[in-house]
Parts: sequence; structure tokens; C-alpha cells
Amino acid sequence: MDVNAYLADLRHEVEAALARLLPPADERPARLHAAMRYSLLAGGKRLRPVLCLASAEAVGGTRAAALLPAIALECLHTYTLIHDDLPAMDDDDLRRGQPTCHKKFDEATAILAGDALLTFAFELLARATPAAQLAQELAQAAGSRGVVGGQAEDLAAEGRAPDAQWLDYIHTHKTGALIRAACRMGALAGGANAAQLAALTSYAGEIGLAFQVADDVLNVTSTPEQLGKATGSDAARKKLTYVALFGLDEARARARTLADEAIAALAPLGARAEPLAALARFTVERSS
Ligand code: IPE
Ligand code: IPE
Ligand code: MG
Ligand code: MG
Repeated sequence: MDVNAYLADLRHEVEAALARLLPPADERPARLHAAMRYSLLAGGKRLRPVLCLASAEAVGGTRAAALLPAIALECLHTYTLIHDDLPAMDDDDLRRGQPTCHKKFDEATAILAGDALLTFAFELLARATPAAQLAQELAQAAGSRGVVGGQAEDLAAEGRAPDAQWLDYIHTHKTGALIRAACRMGALAGGANAAQLAALTSYAGEIGLAFQVADDVLNVTSTPEQLGKATGSDAARKKLTYVALFGLDEARARARTLADEAIAALAPLGARAEPLAALARFTVERSS
């Protein structure tokens, strides 16, 4: 199997479905719809929807069954990025290689575009199967016990004394929760049995952490041109990151160990999980 061609295929499918499913940019309120499409169609790695589709196929399901949940995940993720970049949070000007939503439009439009994308994600899930289970997964991952909780603690920890347990809470919630939901939603849409769901849940826990540790490393080692967003900003804002706590070398080593553990967790799924193993390596070897 040509894993790279397979993953490129999944990405294309996600891009096409995003463009098709989102409200058109000229539909009233046009400025709001334009802002939603601007942030969503600006690029991005599409990791969460690709994980969702690949997880469905890894348990023997079809990617068609996981398409609506995959798009819902990317809508929800993009909402978190739009709000994360606002002046009240990380106050960033660059995202996905372009001006952030509030810079390109205005703050009110960015807040509303985020609100609308969050809501749209659940509209898509209402049309998917099994709708109630998928909505429960995403709601739990995204709410105050998930991403929003992680964001609250990320902001609260700015400038505070480094603390490994606090860092773990922030990473598992602000980033890990949605990546976990991506794999579990793909598995549920693909008709996974309990053992398959458990294997994917372990895999997702490891790559979720690996992904955020790598994000912390790239904030120090990369450039805005390469990354499409500001670098050096974690140190400037005194963020509690893996690098701040343990240093670059240990962060790199930790990310690699987590990726290895993620790949090991895929063993029960057999050869169909090969693309997920490639995605685990990508999360720690990526340069953007
Ligand atoms: C950025 O996510 C925010 C984090 C959770 C680290 P991604 O690195 O997946 O961003 P895009 O979707 O590729 O822009
Ligand atoms: C973003 O975390 C996580 C969410 C938006 C949920 P960060 O603030 O660390 O990510 P970047 O560096 O802005 O992408
Ligand atoms: Mg942030
Ligand atoms: Mg940020």
C-alpha cells in the first residue's frame, strides 16, 4: 500500500467536502460566511478529519460513513483556532500562513464565525450515523471538560511556576481531547467493535500528546514562514509548555517515545492500520 498516496487522497476528499458543505460566501450574512470559509479553507494539515477517516477504514468501515464526522471535527477545530488567536487569548496575527480571522475581518466577525462553526459541527453530526453517540463524543471532547477546559488552564498558567501535572492537564485537554475524539468518532462511524475502539483510543491518547509536544518544539525551532503562524510566542507569553519545563532535547525524545507507543497500540488492528502508523510518525517528524 502506498500510504502517502492514500493520505493525500483522504486530504483531497476533506478539502472537497469542506468547500461543498459550508454555506456559500455570498449567502447572507455574507461577511460572516466569508469569514467562516476564509479560516476553514486557508489550508491546515487536516489531521483530525484524516484521522477520523483513516480510523473508520482501520476498523473495516467505509470512509463515506465517516465523512460528516470528519468535516464536523475540522469545523470545530477551526473555531478553536479562530478564538485562540483573538486578542483576549493568544493575540496572534498569523494563522495557516494568512492574517488571522479577526485581522482579516474584525473581532466581532471572528467571534461569530467561531460560534457558527462550532454550531455547524453539531448540525453535521445530526445528519451522521450513529448521530447521538457521535455528538456525545464531540461535545465531551470540546466542552469545559475538554478543549475549552484546556484553553482556560493554558491561559491561567501563563507566567506561573512550571508544574508537570498542570502541563499534562493542559496538553490532554486543549489538544489531546479532540484528537482522541477524531479517532473514536471514526471508529464509531466505521462500526468498530469494543476491542478496536479500545486500541484506537490508546493510539489517540499517545498521538494527541505527541502532537502537542511537537507543537511546543516547533514554536521554538521553526519560523513563521515554515509554520504559517508566529514562533517564539510561547516564551514571550510565558506559556507553560513541554519545552519550558523539560527543555528541547527531552521534548523531542518524549514526542518520539509517544509516537512509538501510539504505533504499538495499533497492533490489534493489523495491516489496515498502516496509515495511522504513518500519521503517528508524521505528528512528530513534521516541520509545519
Ligand atoms: C494547531 O493545530 C493547534 C494545536 C492544537 C496545536 P494544527 O497544527 O493541527 O493546525 P492546522 O489545522 O494544521 O492549522
Ligand atoms: C491551540 O493551542 C489549541 C486550541 C486552539 C484548542 P496553542 O495556542 O498552543 O496553538 P497555536 O500555537 O496557537 O496553534
Ligand atoms: Mg493558545
Ligand atoms: Mg495559540
